[in-house]
Amino acid sequence: MDSKILKFGTKAVHAGQHPDHDTGALVSPMFLTSTYVFTPEKMERYLAGDKRGIFTYGRSRNPTQNSFQEKIAALEGAESALATGSGMAAISLAIMSFVHSGDHIISCNTVYGGTYALFTKIFKDFKIEVTFVNELNEEELAKAMRPNTKMIYIESILNPTMEVPNIPEAVAFAKKHKLMTMVDNTFTTPYLFRPLEIGVDAVVHSTTKYINGHGDHIGGVIVGNADFIENIRSGIYQELGPVPSPFACWLGLRGLKTLHLRMRQHCDNAMAFAEWLESNPSVEKTIYPGLQSHPQHKLAESMFRNGFGGMVSFTVKGGLREAQTVINNLKMAHYAVSLGDLDTLVEHPATMTHGKIAPEERLRMGIPDNMIRVSVGVEEVEDIIADFDNALKKI
Ligand SMILES: Cc1ncc(COP(=O)(O)O)c(C=O)c1O
Repeated sequence: MDSKILKFGTKAVHAGQHPDHDTGALVSPMFLTSTYVFTPEKMERYLAGDKRGIFTYGRSRNPTQNSFQEKIAALEGAESALATGSGMAAISLAIMSFVHSGDHIISCNTVYGGTYALFTKIFKDFKIEVTFVNELNEEELAKAMRPNTKMIYIESILNPTMEVPNIPEAVAFAKKHKLMTMVDNTFTTPYLFRPLEIGVDAVVHSTTKYINGHGDHIGGVIVGNADFIENIRSGIYQELGPVPSPFACWLGLRGLKTLHLRMRQHCDNAMAFAEWLESNPSVEKTIYPGLQSHPQHKLAESMFRNGFGGMVSFTVKGGLREAQTVINNLKMAHYAVSLGDLDTLVEHPATMTHGKIAPEERLRMGIPDNMIRVSVGVEEVEDIIADFDNALKKI
């Protein structure tokens, strides 16, 4: 059956899965090997340049990793994918394969704290400059544009402000000026948003989050056209060596089989939770793209399908102390960084994920001390609401 015509959930289950050749095992086995044995025929083919189906060494290829990559590529509607040891490895490799010393990047206003540190510290040492723009419209992009600009970097939903950036407008600008566009699709996953379908050139993920979904894997992936991915794999990837373990790939492969089911529950729970928060007297503001009150609700509706994701941010009435009171009084939701797990996770951006950013810069990014970010899990939503109701009453 042509896998291109299969529906998303069917691809999530079947893509990248090949029953084992020798045993018939349905679930792809995990290949724990660092090297591979050549036969004289294989070596002859290899030397003649025909490397199809030939594995040589685990730093460049592993069959379990290949299956994981194949499944993600199918779900993103991409030609190819490359798994890495973490989301940060995917982001840094994907950018550094294309942007070099002396080049310039335009970035959306707010990015994950690790990406912000990469842009403002590591890239500074490599003489790569980054300009953050408040909105991805023609006017702001034109103002930020320089002769050495190479790329526009965007997160699909900004973290933790939950702003929805105008990616179609950024893509139109990039096409006009021959810039590359790259989207971190971690918050939305291909179940809600497939950036390549609207003309984005490359996608990166922290697979640590929804892609694996069970909180027991650290990984990343770069998704794009075959030439772009092969250029990374045979170049910077091979030499820097940020490979994921076969076990991480196997877990990711298994996690992806239920991506559509998990995302439906995350979206339903987040929507109900956000609606409830919005009517709570101790809450100053609830920020969720699914709410009518969200400033980019209409844009989110036009860009995303199947829902608005599992991430909700809100500010409590008061300041740091009140936010900490709520967090400290939660009984079920865990006080922890990361997101996209089955369990509800709560973090305080100003002191955790974005704690290393100077306070005035944090405020410019829209991250006040009274903001709480919730990764809404797949528990029964009534229990999530009861937990927050009790904690908010403690203010
Ligand atoms: C949106 C986003 N991108 C990238 C990363 C980095 O991923 P990892 O922790 O897997 O390196 C994170 C981590 O929280 C994230 O939230």
